Amino acid sequence: MMKFLASFLVLAVVAQQAYGDFKCSLEVPEIPKNWIDMKDACIAGVRHQIQEEINASYQYLAMGAYFARDTVNRGGFAEHFFKSAKEEREHGSKLVEYLSMRGQLTDNVSNLITVPTVPKQEWKDGASALEDALELEIKVTRSIRKLIQTCEGKPYNHYHLVDYLTGVYLEEQLHGQRELAGKLTTLKKMMSTHGELGEFLFDKNL
Ligand SMILES: *[C@@H]1O[C@H](CO)[C@@H](O)[C@H](O)[C@H]1NC(C)=O
Ligand SMILES: *[C@@H]1O[C@H](CO)[C@@H](O)[C@H](O)[C@H]1NC(C)=O
Ligand SMILES: [Fe+2]
Repeated sequence: MMKFLASFLVLAVVAQQAYGDFKCSLEVPEIPKNWIDMKDACIAGVRHQIQEEINASYQYLAMGAYFARDTVNRGGFAEHFFKSAKEEREHGSKLVEYLSMRGQLTDNVSNLITVPTVPKQEWKDGASALEDALELEIKVTRSIRKLIQTCEGKPYNHYHLVDYLTGVYLEEQLHGQRELAGKLTTLKKMMSTHGELGEFLFDKNL
């Protein structure tokens, strides 16, 4: 172990002497820039959407963490919301990659994304969390529609982005909303006839 550490240190020192502060100190070369042609309002819209997805991811993380408490112990809900949190984060990073693909990723990430404060951290039961989740998805869906409107029309005509948003993002949103609505209906039916036991069984089945 010590030997390994020592050789790592030696390597690090050699590398630092060879390459400076591990930074790319070469100048950015001059190349044609006209391929970078996204328009400001559309870029701003994408950046806004990235934050929207990250906010949703944090909200879901808070939901997952709440239901994962040993004092709440609803493993099905916890797993469901942790999975949603992961999906939202992926939606955010896919859009970061999209900006990169269009040559529009110019800021460091802390200028692009701020860590959100999650307004709600506790839920009275599973149904109210699913209701919040559905509201959250409605908000995200509206935001995607608005982004599509911003980017589709003249003078932007960002067909490729709009196609991606419609075919991938909206597709997932609409199915996701339907799934949440269905789950909420089932849960409420089970709870209206069996109360807590209904929620317990629903959680087992999630
Ligand atoms: C982020 O980018 C700015 C320039 O846009 C730079 O001054 C700053 O050092 C970078 N790093 C951090 C951690 O903010
Ligand atoms: C994200 O959440 C923060 C609160 O932490 C809020 O100020 C911001 O407006 C939200 N952004 C979006 C795009 O929803
Ligand atoms: Fe999303």
